[in-house]
Amino acid sequence: MKLIETADYADMSRRAAEIITGQVREKADAVLGLATGSTMLGVYRQLAADHRQHGTSYRLVRTVNLDEYVGLGPDHPNSYRHYMNEHLFSKLDIPLHQTHVPNGLAADLDEECRRYERLIDELGGIDLQLLGIGRNGHIGFNEPGTPFSSATHVVKLAASTREANARFFPSLDAVPRQAITMGIATILRSRRIVLLASGAAKAEAIARLVEGIVSPELPASALHLHPDVTIIADQAALTLIPKEKRRVDAP
Ligand code: F6R
Repeated sequence: MKLIETADYADMSRRAAEIITGQVREKADAVLGLATGSTMLGVYRQLAADHRQHGTSYRLVRTVNLDEYVGLGPDHPNSYRHYMNEHLFSKLDIPLHQTHVPNGLAADLDEECRRYERLIDELGGIDLQLLGIGRNGHIGFNEPGTPFSSATHVVKLAASTREANARFFPSLDAVPRQAITMGIATILRSRRIVLLASGAAKAEAIARLVEGIVSPELPASALHLHPDVTIIADQAALTLIPKEKRRVDAP
């Protein structure tokens, strides 16, 4: 696991965007695993700016998103499909049919989870998976206690996660209670993983992650089992880690 410390959110976003554009230039039909949330907004702004200014093309790129709320369709302003279309896909030259988000409106949710796993396999696996991290250490919507062997599945959202996400909804009650998420095993099958963290609210989760204990109580700690993980975190997210321990180098 490699740790890159950045001065601030803007710097974190730039570093992450550089890794993604590097991946796309190296492999024009790369499969990118994408995430939503506040952390990713800066990265997506950077990717859009780079596409405008330098013409990096996503015409052949395929994307798979980590998760989606159950019950929210593409037109719902809080659905992750809506977020992705608005913040990223509409700003790039990627054909929408090459972008994939779990279908939160599927009549048979378990079949939708199985379809999503098959889809990832059919695409040839994920080349680069982008992750944020929850305050409780979740990745995707894999809440504490999720087995590391989990494939894409339906989850009941933790109260803390619903509260954290309520800022985007008219009320806490409007936040869906379930989501579909790639499982931890799905995420670990990605060839390369980049996890981003910004701000003091993530400091505890990042400190626990860097400490190195591997336990389902901290879902992100499963990343210690993967050979190619880079954490990009700003100073605020690293405040609970002593300066001399902020260098976790790749094996
Ligand atoms: C989003 C996702 C979540 C978020 C995490 C952090 O697709 O999978 O795990 O990455 O909840 O969210 P923000 O960035 O809003 O703090």
